[in-house]
Amino acid sequence: MGNTIRDRILFLREQIEYHNYRYHVLDDPEIPDRDFDQLLGELEKLETQHPQFTESDSPTRKVGGTPARTFSPVAHSVPMKSLANAFGEEEIHDFDRRVRDLVDTTGPVEYIAEPKFDGLAVSLRYEKGWLVQAATRGDGSRGENITQNMRAVLKDMTRLEGRLAPDVLEIRGEVFMTQDDFDRLNGAQKRAGKKVFANPRNAAAGSLRQLDPAVTASRPLRIYCYALGEVSSGKAPESHMESLEWIRSFGLPVTELVETVHGAEGCLEYYTRLLDLRDSHPFEMDGVVYKVSRMDWQRQLGHTARAPRWAIAYKFPAQEATTRIEAIDIQVGRTGAITPVARLEPVLVGGVTVSNATLHNRSEIQRLDVREGDSVVVRRAGDVIPEIVSVITSRRPAGAKTFAFPEHCPECGSGIVYEGEGIIARCSGGLYCRAQKIRSIIHFASKRAMDIDGMGEKIVEQLVSEGLVDTVADLYRLDASTLAQLDRMADKSASNLVDAISRSRNTTMSRFIYALGIPQVGETTAEALAGTFFDLDALINADEEQLIEVPDVGPVVSRGVTAFFGQPHNREVIEQLLELGIQWPKPAKAMPGNQAAMDTLHPFSGKTVVLTGTLSIARNEAKSRLKQAGAKVAGSVSSRTDFVIVGTNPGSKAEQARKLGIRDLDESHFLDMLENEG
Ligand code: IVH
Repeated sequence: MGNTIRDRILFLREQIEYHNYRYHVLDDPEIPDRDFDQLLGELEKLETQHPQFTESDSPTRKVGGTPARTFSPVAHSVPMKSLANAFGEEEIHDFDRRVRDLVDTTGPVEYIAEPKFDGLAVSLRYEKGWLVQAATRGDGSRGENITQNMRAVLKDMTRLEGRLAPDVLEIRGEVFMTQDDFDRLNGAQKRAGKKVFANPRNAAAGSLRQLDPAVTASRPLRIYCYALGEVSSGKAPESHMESLEWIRSFGLPVTELVETVHGAEGCLEYYTRLLDLRDSHPFEMDGVVYKVSRMDWQRQLGHTARAPRWAIAYKFPAQEATTRIEAIDIQVGRTGAITPVARLEPVLVGGVTVSNATLHNRSEIQRLDVREGDSVVVRRAGDVIPEIVSVITSRRPAGAKTFAFPEHCPECGSGIVYEGEGIIARCSGGLYCRAQKIRSIIHFASKRAMDIDGMGEKIVEQLVSEGLVDTVADLYRLDASTLAQLDRMADKSASNLVDAISRSRNTTMSRFIYALGIPQVGETTAEALAGTFFDLDALINADEEQLIEVPDVGPVVSRGVTAFFGQPHNREVIEQLLELGIQWPKPAKAMPGNQAAMDTLHPFSGKTVVLTGTLSIARNEAKSRLKQAGAKVAGSVSSRTDFVIVGTNPGSKAEQARKLGIRDLDESHFLDMLENEG
């Protein structure tokens, strides 16, 4: 038994050293931070339970990684420690209790709460107000000299503002990259065929630890400062908040998110608020940090080998986890778009079980060189579909084969064609392809389209497989006894479904257009089309020039629309649908349907209209009728405004319109145009 524990300890130390090296020296970690924390946590626990195996050079007693040999070493005059981690509320209560016991107080302790930035820690040494040295954290007592590179990041902050700086002042902070900057950088790297970074932290660390400072200068790096190191004689701050204000007064950035909180409750409340902010925030935060504010208490609490006792980091739920790819499948969408999907061994990421992740496209598969059987890091952030971040190649099973992207649609065998510089793959089978057929029927029946309640994926799949439905028109030919034969379909649900199908016959023109699944035509475009062409025939017969007149419609959409209606098959299905009773309320005075579409354009169609003053009809009604007529209703007058509708007691907008020479309409004229000319 003793041996196995010792073996486990040795194994953990070796693993931790390896991952430390990849993270701190290579800026290329293989596993998510949370997995690393788990390894370290397990080792700490085993060493506490079995002190006979403790060793002074165990990674539990060290900070970070050995400085790389490429930069000259720098000794830190005040060590740069790490932070203890908490993963649950109980650990925050424990921390607060320990602090109160050690400083011997009963009242709530004042803490400074800050975001935990996910970047690279640096120490900036200023002498007489000038930057003389910048260093990474390294192993906590010795870091790397990155002065030249930091000058590129700090720009005019290499000189402290104000005249009150002490002779020696060390300021510590985190260098990071915002999510947007990271996406842009990775995009550029990808296009140039260069290394793509796994996340903003690695991009920041990799950019800062460049041998050529010009490369660092070209990267969008930022810094937030959060602590002091060495401070020469003179009046040093007495609270952490004061030191942050001091740093700010020298012109260095401190986050606006710092706050003073009280006791464990205050800490937890701050955590909840920041967690809510996380997904919409411009840069990555991997948790929050609490620091005892009073400096005398900080001194009294002191440090362990790795971290101060007066601070703790409360980590957010991990957005990344490791798992294994069981298979790579190819999915065919409604318009034939082909997406590779990784089927995963289910894994918990940020509190949700994930078993599928998108692989985006063929070039993403090539870039990652992802293979069936691989161990991978999956990421699930916010509402975004889970994706594969990287492959843990050191765990690749022997014989894992490179994934061969298919040349033919796996559903119908039609050829795959490429669009968008060869990135987007599409099945060329159209509605001949069973997958496209099923997807387009599901779309047709969906809530925002024809809203056939109960017509879900499984039922549509069965209907198509059994040959009961071939086109969307066939849905309206189904009866209850046919439906009742399907799997898991009782008489009652069959008759409910028939009712839902029947109810969906009464719809609106825009829903119907949207339901057709014309490429590029979403709900908004469908509304604009319905508002412009009151009559379906006019829309079907419209040419590209007429379509381009419609608000929000450009050349791509108009081409898509004409191509769709140009297909005899599509026209036939539409005709059948109308014969089967699909209908919608016609606008009061529609022009005869077979007139050229241009003639049916409403005088407000495509125009920008501004309302001012009180109208006899409700403002919302006026707006919605204008929108129906194809107008855009704007809030303020500009040179792009076509009409201003002036009610009683008009505001300054009427005046502005006159100045700009924009046509104004009084209410009766406006209603006249709406009702009689449309
Ligand atoms: S204070 C002695 N405050 O987290 C305390 N560190 O896991 C020194 N970090 O090495 C750190 N945000 O790189 C502090 N608001 C913050 C931080 C922060 C991120 C980093 C820092 C540190 C690491 C420890």
